[in-house]
Amino acid sequence: MRFISSQFGGASFSCLTLFVLLLLHFCHIVSIVGQKSDGALTVVENPDGGERVGGAEEEVTVDDDDDDDDDEGDLEVVQPTEQWQTLKPSHAVPAGSRVRLNLQTGEREVRLGDEQLKYWTQEHREKEETQSSFSPDELKRAMKKIKEDLNPASKDTQRQDSVESKYRPLEELKRDMAQLDLLVETDVQIMRRLLDQFNSSNSTTEQKMSILLELEYLVHQVDNAQSLCSMGGLQFILEGLNSSDFRLQESSAFVLGSALASNPVVQVKAVESGALQTLLTTLATAQPLRVKKKVLFAVASLLRHFPYAQRHFLSHGGLQVLSDLFREDRGGILRKRIVTMLYDMISEKELISQVGLDSVLDAAHQERVRQYSKVSLQGELFEKGWCSLVPQLLESTEHDYREKALRALLAMAPVCLDQYRSNGSLLDSLLSLRDQYQEMVQSEITLGEENGYFAEIVQLIDALHVKMK
Ligand SMILES: *[C@@H]1O[C@H](CO)[C@@H](O)[C@H](O)[C@H]1NC(C)=O
Ligand SMILES: *[C@@H]1O[C@H](CO)[C@@H](O)[C@H](O)[C@H]1NC(C)=O
Ligand SMILES: *[C@@H]1O[C@H](CO)[C@@H](O)[C@H](O)[C@H]1NC(C)=O
Ligand SMILES: *[C@@H]1O[C@H](CO)[C@@H](O)[C@H](O)[C@H]1NC(C)=O
Repeated sequence: MRFISSQFGGASFSCLTLFVLLLLHFCHIVSIVGQKSDGALTVVENPDGGERVGGAEEEVTVDDDDDDDDDEGDLEVVQPTEQWQTLKPSHAVPAGSRVRLNLQTGEREVRLGDEQLKYWTQEHREKEETQSSFSPDELKRAMKKIKEDLNPASKDTQRQDSVESKYRPLEELKRDMAQLDLLVETDVQIMRRLLDQFNSSNSTTEQKMSILLELEYLVHQVDNAQSLCSMGGLQFILEGLNSSDFRLQESSAFVLGSALASNPVVQVKAVESGALQTLLTTLATAQPLRVKKKVLFAVASLLRHFPYAQRHFLSHGGLQVLSDLFREDRGGILRKRIVTMLYDMISEKELISQVGLDSVLDAAHQERVRQYSKVSLQGELFEKGWCSLVPQLLESTEHDYREKALRALLAMAPVCLDQYRSNGSLLDSLLSLRDQYQEMVQSEITLGEENGYFAEIVQLIDALHVKMK
């Protein structure tokens, strides 16, 4: 009897459970459909709906009164459109949506935010990545925080996870509005904040260095580097170069070099701000090799394709500073970089004059030729003794260093040839290098590689040898 009764009770319980489950399942489907279709599902829950501002088809009211309580983990997301829609207290909206209180009805309404509107009307042309100024780390942190706040205990299905990481309930959104504003800072705002922090008298050297590092990351974008100059950032960087703390010197030179790289606007502003003199002074006086490397990088970036700066570099004794640096440098890394820089300067000038031979001479080109003609680099190189300095780099054991030396020797040949010819040890070292590289070319060929790197070096040696005959 008891057995039967309990069995019967069990059966009826299962039936009820099944019914409830089916009901829940149905509600669940409804809510999923509601989330996925933007406004396609319009459930008008009471007959007075017509009184609401905005008209019936512009409102999406997701049915929620019944399953709201048992489904506390299931967020209901309203996809905003260009029109205002009424919000229920438990509704979540995507971050960036505009929410307002309708004073006539006392209800909150949502529509796409201004940024989103722009985005939508541009028909998703822009990549989402570039629209957002979240850094990946900030985004991760923000997402993590949102998830933790929304879902303290349960780990739900993937679908729910992804919904909850994309959308935030309204209350949460309002509470963290200030934080959100901070997260969507534009690059310009970030740089403004960094400069203010840098300028504050109580920031430590470590803080300044980390600020400079952040700036260095930002100025790789051409626009950012130019904005940094307009905000007066250049002045801070030049003061940093002047600093007595070599770590600040190093970081400042790094930012400056990156901002200058392939950025003519910044190059001009830097020269106008006296960067050339500051750089040369720092290069001449800085002690640790690390600082010298970064300052040299900034000098090279400043001079690249900028004949005006090159001319002033020469007239301010730049080659003298470089030759002192070259002589001191035992490791060879600075030597290589200096020789590479000189080679670049010679060859860009060569290139300009060659282009002129077989193309239409427009005004801009003529102006460039004129400016380069004032850069008397070759003559200065000869006078400052570079015809005997550069051959020293051939003594390095690094293939890369030797290659750079050979290229520079060839480029300087027009003015240095007599000195090369009278230098017996240069000829000896060329011939011995040639033997060495010929052997390596043979092993390159047995490995199936023709015209490899070593073959290229042999060609450079041969070319120089021919000139010296
Ligand atoms: C740096 O701070 C001083 C006041 O301490 C202010 O006068 C100056 O304008 C600030 N410079 C920049 C570029 O913000
Ligand atoms: C620097 O001073 C400002 C106020 O002058 C203060 O808000 C800030 O917290 C201080 N920063 C540090 C690192 O002490
Ligand atoms: C760097 O220091 C020198 C002298 O020590 C000074 O003439 C120059 O104006 C300083 N430059 C900057 C940008 O502070
Ligand atoms: C001659 O060449 C050697 C490298 O082979 C170099 O070290 C030396 O400085 C050169 N001397 C002159 C006077 O050019």
